[in-house]
Amino acid sequence: TAKHVAIVGATGAVGQEMLACLEERNFPLTELTLLASARSAGKKYKFRGEEITVKELTHDSFADIDVALFSAGGGISLEYGPSAAAAGAIVIDNSSAFRMDDEVPLIVPEINGEEAKSAPKGIIANPNCSTIITLMALYPLHKAYGLKGVIASTYQAVSGSGAQGIIELEQQIDALAKDEPIEKNVYQHQIAYNVIPHVDAFTDNAYTKEELKMLNEGRKILGIDDLKVTCTCVRVPVFRSHSISVTAIFEKDMSVAEAQACFADTPGIKLCDNPDELLYPTPLDTTLKDDCLVGRIRKDLVVDNALALWVVGDQVKKGAALNAVQIAEII
Ligand code: A2P
Repeated sequence: TAKHVAIVGATGAVGQEMLACLEERNFPLTELTLLASARSAGKKYKFRGEEITVKELTHDSFADIDVALFSAGGGISLEYGPSAAAAGAIVIDNSSAFRMDDEVPLIVPEINGEEAKSAPKGIIANPNCSTIITLMALYPLHKAYGLKGVIASTYQAVSGSGAQGIIELEQQIDALAKDEPIEKNVYQHQIAYNVIPHVDAFTDNAYTKEELKMLNEGRKILGIDDLKVTCTCVRVPVFRSHSISVTAIFEKDMSVAEAQACFADTPGIKLCDNPDELLYPTPLDTTLKDDCLVGRIRKDLVVDNALALWVVGDQVKKGAALNAVQIAEII
């Protein structure tokens, strides 16, 4: 049955993509409510040919909402998510606020979509963007060969930091071209023509929170309690789409051809892997696309039963907005 849907954080990078996904996928909704801060109240956006005016988010915003898609940061989710659920809405939350809560399913529809049907708190969590994209490549291999460990490095686009990340890269490129001083607001270091091995806050063990998401969320989504993960997350001067270089270690051995065959008919991820024709995925290839792409599949030369691979996906879409809308489609 058709639903009244709300987007919390509708003016943000992910919120805007949620709007686009709902329209593109012809989501069965009766009404769409757009919510953001008081700063944005009154802004107008087109949806299915009609203008919708953004309203200020308050605790009373959710009275007749069936599904609330949250993407306004963890603080807003913690403060307003429970009141939305208490008002009867199913919350699909893009922040990290509830992801590791045992009573909150953490869902990638192609992997564990069934688990979305049981959400005791009325809250379902959307996983971290790099985790989603990495697992899209690892899940078909895991089903065949049993995943044991992951060693990964990410190459994360600035749109992962929201609209402000995009502005910062654009302004720095522009300033450098004019030989003017650059401004740094979002990142502590220059991001234009640089890479920064630091995404999210550092923790006590010298890994960043973002790096530990791959470990903790990966275990929860795949249901592998003893999965081992080492990850280095890097911000790169790319506007959109995250890339991840992965060594994946399995229980069973396989050939490269067998591994490639695992992607013959997988929803949401396609093989793009032919070095002879210089065919491998780059972030521009997945930008604004629904599907993730996997290539550069090789036998790892250090570890037994292991593959090296490269996976790329639009982190605003599959890493966030599209994944959330797919969860809404399930429920
Ligand atoms: P606003 O545009 O009114 O600030 P991004 O991650 O791209 O920066 O987007 C963040 C989103 O979260 C925006 O839609 C932003 O709205 C929204 N947001 C930020 N703070 C609040 C708040 N206090 N109440 C409601 N929405 C908020």
